[in-house]
Amino acid sequence: MSEQIQQMQRTLLAGTLAGGIAHDMNNQLTVILGHLDIALDHLPDSFDAFDSLEHAKAAASRCADLSRRLLYLSNRRRAVMARMDVVEAVAEAKLMLDCVRPCNTHLKVETEPDLFVLGDTTMIQQAIINLGTNAFYAMKNGGTLEIRAYREEGRVNIIMKDNGSGMTTSLRRRIYEPFFSTHPDDGGSGLGLSMVRTIMNAHGGLIGLDTVPGEGSTFLLNFPPIEEQEEAAL
Ligand SMILES: Nc1ncnc2c1ncn2[C@@H]1O[C@H](COP(=O)(O)OP(=O)(O)OP(=O)(O)O)[C@@H](O)[C@H]1O
Ligand SMILES: [Mg+2]
Repeated sequence: MSEQIQQMQRTLLAGTLAGGIAHDMNNQLTVILGHLDIALDHLPDSFDAFDSLEHAKAAASRCADLSRRLLYLSNRRRAVMARMDVVEAVAEAKLMLDCVRPCNTHLKVETEPDLFVLGDTTMIQQAIINLGTNAFYAMKNGGTLEIRAYREEGRVNIIMKDNGSGMTTSLRRRIYEPFFSTHPDDGGSGLGLSMVRTIMNAHGGLIGLDTVPGEGSTFLLNFPPIEEQEEAAL
């Protein structure tokens, strides 16, 4: 079987599994988190098992985060499309990225005014955050992530350029595979870029990548003009 078909099958299987499991898991986690909150509220800080409950809550929150990612991946959560201000969305995503940015890295944002697409703001911000966290991870020895948003030939582009590790051709070939991560022992679930791809598909957009090992990577999110997106939605 060709590598491409195998990859497609893995993607489809992951999507189906992910959607089913994530939905149920999310419901159960809401119950677990709710009860842990109640227990923590009623117990004094001095209670012997207080720390254990806090640890349990932190772990359950991480699971809830993972199941949300799986839901995005399986496309269960339908995109809610509206005229969206890209400048505002990028500015908000920057605030979130600033919270997770290692101190040996910089984050620069440059946006042209008046950039609009038909989009789901939460999803687009999620895509920017996924790309941003990848960039920070790739810049182990420090560096700069530049985010630029601009219009070109009627299409809106968001570019995210890092000067981190870059990628070899063989790594680059696998990065959109669900569950593929080069650092699974370090918390990588390998779902970040599959989510970005699912999100861009939902917007009729494209992802581009330019990368040089040892020099860095530039991801491009490219959106069709609003009129085209509206026509496609009819
Ligand atoms: N900007 C980048 N520079 C270098 N390598 C990258 C970059 N972005 C992604 N990669 C590579 O692609 C792999 C897959 O990325 P992806 O975001 O899907 O998963 P992850 O970051 O490993 O885990 P997760 O995002 O689920 O926490 C990464 O493990 C990394 O090897
Ligand atoms: Mg990632």
